[in-house]
This record gives sequence, C-alpha cells and structure tokens, in this order.
Amino acid sequence: MRRECLCLLIVFAISFASGIRYEPTWESIDSRPLPTWYDESKLGIFVHWGVFSVPSFSSEWFWHDWKESKLPGIKAFMADNYRPDFTYADFAKDFTAEFFIAEQWASIFKSSGAKYIVFVSKHHEGYSNYPSKYSFSWNSMDVGPQRDIVGELADAIRTNTDMHFGLYHSQYEWFNPLFLQDKANNLTTQDFVNFKVLPEWYEIVNKYKPDIVWSDGDWEATDDYWKAKEYIAWLYNDSPVKDKVVINDRWGYGIGCEHGGFYTCGDRFNPGHLFKHKWENAMTIDKYSWGYRRNARLSDYLTMNQLIETFVKTVSCGGNMLLNVGPRHDGIIDPLMQERLEQMGEWMSLNGEAIYATRPWTYQNDTVNPNVWYTNKTLNGVEVVYAISLEWPSNGTLHIAAPFPSVSTTVVSLLGYQHKLNWSISSSGGMNITLPDLKGDNLPCQWAWVFKLEGLIKQKRKIPFRMPKFDVNKPPHPHYRPNVSYH
Ligand SMILES: *[C@@H]1O[C@H](CO)[C@@H](O)[C@H](O)[C@H]1NC(C)=O
Ligand SMILES: *[C@@H]1O[C@H](CO)[C@@H](O)[C@H](O)[C@H]1NC(C)=O
Ligand SMILES: *[C@@H]1O[C@H](CO)[C@@H](O)[C@H](O)[C@H]1NC(C)=O
Ligand SMILES: *[C@@H]1O[C@H](CO)[C@@H](O)[C@H](O)[C@H]1NC(C)=O
Ligand SMILES: *[C@@H]1O[C@H](CO)[C@@H](O)[C@H](O)[C@H]1NC(C)=O
Ligand SMILES: *[C@@H]1O[C@H](CO)[C@@H](O)[C@H](O)[C@H]1NC(C)=O
Ligand SMILES: *[C@@H]1O[C@H](CO)[C@@H](O)[C@H](O)[C@H]1NC(C)=O
Repeated sequence: MRRECLCLLIVFAISFASGIRYEPTWESIDSRPLPTWYDESKLGIFVHWGVFSVPSFSSEWFWHDWKESKLPGIKAFMADNYRPDFTYADFAKDFTAEFFIAEQWASIFKSSGAKYIVFVSKHHEGYSNYPSKYSFSWNSMDVGPQRDIVGELADAIRTNTDMHFGLYHSQYEWFNPLFLQDKANNLTTQDFVNFKVLPEWYEIVNKYKPDIVWSDGDWEATDDYWKAKEYIAWLYNDSPVKDKVVINDRWGYGIGCEHGGFYTCGDRFNPGHLFKHKWENAMTIDKYSWGYRRNARLSDYLTMNQLIETFVKTVSCGGNMLLNVGPRHDGIIDPLMQERLEQMGEWMSLNGEAIYATRPWTYQNDTVNPNVWYTNKTLNGVEVVYAISLEWPSNGTLHIAAPFPSVSTTVVSLLGYQHKLNWSISSSGGMNITLPDLKGDNLPCQWAWVFKLEGLIKQKRKIPFRMPKFDVNKPPHPHYRPNVSYH
C-alpha cells in the first residue's frame, strides 16, 4: 500500500518535472535549477587540443596572432622554420596524435580527483576534433589524426571512470568566410549561425551527449545573432541530455556573468568573496597559454602551492575550478602536467571530504588569519565546518577567529591525523588550535591542511552577498599572451 503510494508519487513527480518546458527567454532559461552533480563536483579538467598544438608556440591563438595581430615573435618563428608559403592549414597534417590513447587520458584526468572533464571539440581556429558534417576537410577525420578524438575520449571517460564528459565548443571562428560575410553585413545576416554554428551545436549534443555544453567565442555578436536562447531551450526541453546537462554563460555579448547556467565571467575568474550564483574558475597550469607551448619555462607553470591556493579559495567562495592542460600534438600529456594532476589527486584523496559536495560557510576566509578558508557540509546529520589553512604555522598554534566554539561541544581534528586536537579559547577572541608536532614528510599532506570543526555554535551570516565586479564593456576574456620573443 505504502509502496504503491510512493510509486504514484514518483510517477506524478516525474511527469510533473518533465512537463516543465523552458521558453527561449533568459528569464525562463535562468529559472532552471542547476543539476546538483555539477556543484558537488568542484573540480573539472579542461583540455585544449587542436591544430594549434602542432606549432605549440605562443598560444592556442597562434593563427590569429600570426595573421591578425601580426606578433613579431610569431612572424620570426615562421620565417625561420617554415617555407614562405606555409599556411596555418599546413600544420594540420602534423596533428598526428600517435600517442593518443583515450584510456590513458581518462586515467590521468581521473587521478586528479576531478569529477568532470571539458574537452575542446572545436576552438576558434574552426578545426573540429570529430568528423563534423559541417567542417569539411577541417576536422580530425579528414586531416591529421584521422580519428574521432571526441568519440574515443567520450567512450573512455564513460567506460573507465565515473567522471562527467563535457564539451567546449567555440561559436565564432576567426577566419570562417561565412562569419566574415555576416560581419561585413553588420551581423544583419546569420548565414554562419544557420549553416555552421547551430548545425554543429545540435550535432555534438546528439552525437556525444555531453553533460556540459561550454560555449565560448561569443563576444563579437549578441545572443540574438547566435540564436543562443532557442538552442538552450532545445537543450533543456528536448535534447538527449535535457535532465543533466549544465551550461555556462558565454552565449553572446553582455550575457557572461548575467545569464545561463554557471557563470565563468572572465578567464581565471576568482572573486575572493561569495556570490550567490554558481560559478566556475576556468584556469590553466601554464599561466600564459591554454594550448601546449614547447617553450614554456618551468616558472610559467603554476606550482602545487599556487594550484591548491586557487582551488581552496575558489571552492570556499562557491566556485568550481576547471583546471586546464594542453596535450602535445602527438597525444602526450607533458609529465610535468601529469604530476600536477596526480598531486591534486593526492591532496583530494586525503582532503576531498572538505571539498566535494560542500557549501560555502558563513565566512569564506577567516577574520584574522589570512591563510584560512572555510567550507561547510552536513555529515551524518551534523554540521561540520572545515578550516583549510594554506600554511602550517611553525609556532605550533593555529589561531582563527571566525568560528564560535563551545568548550562543551566543539571537537577539532586534522584530516589525516588520528587524534583529536587540543584547542583553547583565545584571550583575543576566536580559538587557538594546538598543532601536533609534525614536520616534513610526517605532515598529513604537503600543501594545505584541513581542520575539521564539529559542534560549533551556529552563527548568522553578517557579510552581505555581493555580486562580482565585472565590467561588461571590457573584453570578457582577456587574452593573455606569453612573451613570444623568439630570438
Ligand atoms: C555597417 O555599418 C557601418 C557603420 O554603421 C556602415 O557604414 C555600413 O554601411 C554598414 N554596412 C552594411 C553592409 O550595412
Ligand atoms: C577576507 O575576509 C575579510 C573580512 O573578514 C575581508 O575584509 C577580506 O577582503 C577577505 N578576503 C581576502 C581575500 O582576504
Ligand atoms: C552548511 O551546509 C549545509 C548543507 O550541507 C547547509 O544546509 C547549511 O545551511 C550550511 N551552513 C551554513 C552556515 O552555511
Ligand atoms: C603563530 O604564528 C602565526 C603565523 O604563522 C601568527 O599569526 C601567530 O600570532 C603566532 N602565535 C603565537 C602565539 O605566537
Ligand atoms: C592534549 O592535551 C593533553 C593534556 O595536556 C595531552 O595529554 C594530549 O597529548 C594532547 N593531545 C594532543 C593531540 O596534542
Ligand atoms: C592564541 O593565539 C593568539 C594569536 O596567536 C595569541 O595572541 C594568544 O595569546 C593565544 N591565546 C592562548 C590562550 O593561547
Ligand atoms: C615579458 O617581457 C617583459 C620585457 O622583457 C618583462 O618585463 C616581463 O616580465 C616578461 N613577462 C614574463 C611573464 O616573463
């Protein structure tokens, strides 16, 4: 009887849920709740791979910066190493991918503790990493690897891991004649959108069923030009991924940080304070490039300290981090990048409790200790606050002032250390936590330490939520350029 009731209820709930239809308006699109898996994941891996991985010099903007920006370093590089009539398209045949083994990539990405990946199916150069029907002779089946890279990776991720598979896809293409024509018509025509952009959007979703549709290259035209709202309404109503798909906010000029699914605002967005809308910090191990750069120096790569610091701040403030790697043209992921990913995973395997499925707490950072950032979750019905310290105080005491402890109920532990920690109420307010006498390899981990606080006195939030400062008149995705002094 009860079971029957429950079944009826579930059937009713499902039919009710699927009865919702989203309209092609931002108001309607923005009203869709974000599927919970995304917020709970916290860490994703971004992968930039394409023809730009062949010159692997300057950045993934190589073609544009050579022909359009005419960077002297790139011109010199071309003049010295290639015959005079060499075109960008000539690089494609050397996009060989002979060491690309999708299962190996899946296991490398998995080792980071990430719960999803976002793979570049097409960057601004227009080359698609799958046999697109709309990208004749400029795709990974016709020239270069002669393989369906997206398909192989999607299969490997789904078969060998529990990670979600997402796709990045650029709307604009620097040199697509249809787009150039539309622009010459002041975007009063939409041939590029009708015959290239939209067909590809439908194609990648119907074919590869990505859980994330990560749009980019939107800023030169409005959402109306791109027909973005119509497309998203289809994604949410009728696509094969309608129930679990998550999208970002790069759907037209002025839309970023205002509408869509999670907000990415600009690249490497990390506001340092809470804001109410779910957001993502898309960033990259090589500070200056998303695509692989052969001449990157060691100091151009973020260190583990920097990565963990960025990650902890991001999660404390309600964001996810999308950590980018750029594989080489042959499919090798540089061992240094692999090490970063593995070490992220090492840290996560010990401290993931303070990361996955957590919420921002009352305070994001401590009120007196600049090294301490907070997260919060309910664990077995008990509210737990995690104080994550980016530093191990050498004097043996961690002083924090945001939490209100209670002598009778508060219990403090350190993830990776078996005993409860002693603590006292500090004369100046807050609490002093006595650290165990550990050093070097005996510390539970090497980069940031998680103090688990249970039985605190509940606090009301005193800090108002803030929306990020984001100037829509600035280019939304400032394009960093490495120093390309070639000589
Ligand atoms: C586009 O706009 C510019 C400036 O407003 C104008 O000079 C030009 O004639 C327009 N071109 C077309 C094809 O409408
Ligand atoms: C940390 O918290 C204080 C308020 O306690 C605030 O003034 C400060 O800007 C916050 N952010 C950072 C990055 O320290
Ligand atoms: C802590 O997280 C839980 C969800 O896990 C939430 O219900 C609660 O409101 C959070 N507490 C604060 C103070 O944000
Ligand atoms: C311990 O060192 C930290 C800096 O790591 C400092 O903020 C704190 O005041 C010191 N505490 C004592 C008791 O010296
Ligand atoms: C906590 O303090 C007690 C009493 O001083 C001591 O015996 C114990 O070893 C301390 N525990 C830790 C983890 O430091
Ligand atoms: C707690 O730490 C603060 C700051 O380091 C220090 O000034 C204070 O004396 C400590 N209080 C106790 C009771 O240890
Ligand atoms: C790039 O070169 C300029 C001038 O040589 C220098 O000031 C700057 O620090 C360099 N930037 C990087 C990231 O190396």
